[in-house]
Amino acid sequence: MHVNGSHNGYDIADPALSDQGARRIAWAERAMPVLGLLRRRFANERPLDGLVLAACMHVTTETAALVRTLTAAGASLHLAASNPLSTQDDVAAALAQEGVGVFARQGVTLEEYAGHLRAVLDARPDYVLDDGCDLVNLLHSHPALLAGVRGGIEETTTGVLRLRQMAADGALRLPMVAVNDTAVQRLVANRHGTGQSTLDAVLRATGVLLAGTTVVVAGYGPCGHGIAERARGFGAHVVVTEVDPSRALEAVLDGHRVLPMAAAAPAGDVFITATGNRGVLRAEHFAVMKDGAVLANSGHFDVEVDVVALAEVSVQTQRVRAFVDEHLLADGRRLLLVAEGRLVNLAAAEGHPASVMDVSFAVQALALEWLVGASLAPGVHEVPAALDREVARTKLAALGTSLDTLTAEQDRYLSTWRA
Ligand SMILES: NC(=O)c1ccc[n+]([C@@H]2O[C@H](COP(=O)([O-])OP(=O)(O)OC[C@H]3O[C@@H](n4cnc5c(N)ncnc54)[C@H](O)[C@@H]3O)[C@@H](O)[C@H]2O)c1
Repeated sequence: MHVNGSHNGYDIADPALSDQGARRIAWAERAMPVLGLLRRRFANERPLDGLVLAACMHVTTETAALVRTLTAAGASLHLAASNPLSTQDDVAAALAQEGVGVFARQGVTLEEYAGHLRAVLDARPDYVLDDGCDLVNLLHSHPALLAGVRGGIEETTTGVLRLRQMAADGALRLPMVAVNDTAVQRLVANRHGTGQSTLDAVLRATGVLLAGTTVVVAGYGPCGHGIAERARGFGAHVVVTEVDPSRALEAVLDGHRVLPMAAAAPAGDVFITATGNRGVLRAEHFAVMKDGAVLANSGHFDVEVDVVALAEVSVQTQRVRAFVDEHLLADGRRLLLVAEGRLVNLAAAEGHPASVMDVSFAVQALALEWLVGASLAPGVHEVPAALDREVARTKLAALGTSLDTLTAEQDRYLSTWRA
């Protein structure tokens, strides 16, 4: 590992990439005004002064904007990647140049990945920022390191799920804030971020003209909602499949057709799953799909399209474009699987746009400030609703949108039952 004079060590691929990284971070920051405003306030108020933070996050331009915001608040940062493949080496180089203890290289082995997590914990953090609960898990297996940590925040659904399981087993020793579960995150990231980037990925991968086609969207949670909305915007006929009656009703009232997958399968040109469930597209559906149907998944795990069953019914598979595998079936039909059924917007496009991460990371930064000022018991804690609203209000202001405020009379009217 290299030693970065001014700071603890770092381990990055190539320090010479730092200029390129700095330019790309600056580009992302243009679309991140909420974090920019927070950074200015944090620089004045220094709410994290002298604190040591260990973070396990995707090392991307947007994460760099968050890291800069937390350092402006007075913290020193030690950053490991939350995925062996997601590191942008130029960003890692730029952050190391700024004095951040970065332990991240694109394509590290699992052993190196674990070593990086250990390295950020060796900095003896006061707080941790996690994305998937790997860092918190590791902490709990090292009581000596755990003893000095006061709490942390967790970004993703999967991480929050693991934390809740730890808490239920009485194993969680830290207060952890679940930043994933805020209303603004569901709206901006899940609906609009996933909606746009999923369509972006399908288009980059296949180049299909969506106008006039039938796009089948499985699941009508915030993600499916966003995907369906964007597909319609491209001129597609949208069919939604659901198992939940309220969500199915929402889809109908939004103007989409709702069908069981058995009926949708022979009608669809493009299929996109976003259910968080498994086996949503399976052998019985492959058997009736049109020649040339495109299959993609935007749910968290690669189990929504049954890729094992697809391989079994294929007589030949070939990569016909980057990210597209053509599966030839015995009767001559070809099904086109995008990104091997993995999270398509991250695999074949760039994930959420920076403007979306502006909101997610503003929630993170504010949640951390709140955690540092509060004294919370070990367990999983929700982000206060007021903080959620503050981020929405700031994003609106940054977008140049003003809204009304209650008059004193209206405020009284809404807060009393007396006439
Ligand atoms: N691609 C991304 O960047 C991204 C971002 C956020 C979340 N996600 C993932 O996308 C998935 C959906 O997220 P969400 O926030 O919309 O979740 P959600 O749980 O709110 O919605 C999922 C919907 O799918 C429905 N469903 C479940 N099984 C089904 C089936 N067999 N057929 C049809 N519908 C079914 C459920 O009734 C529910 O309405 C999750 O796996 C989530 O982790 C992906």
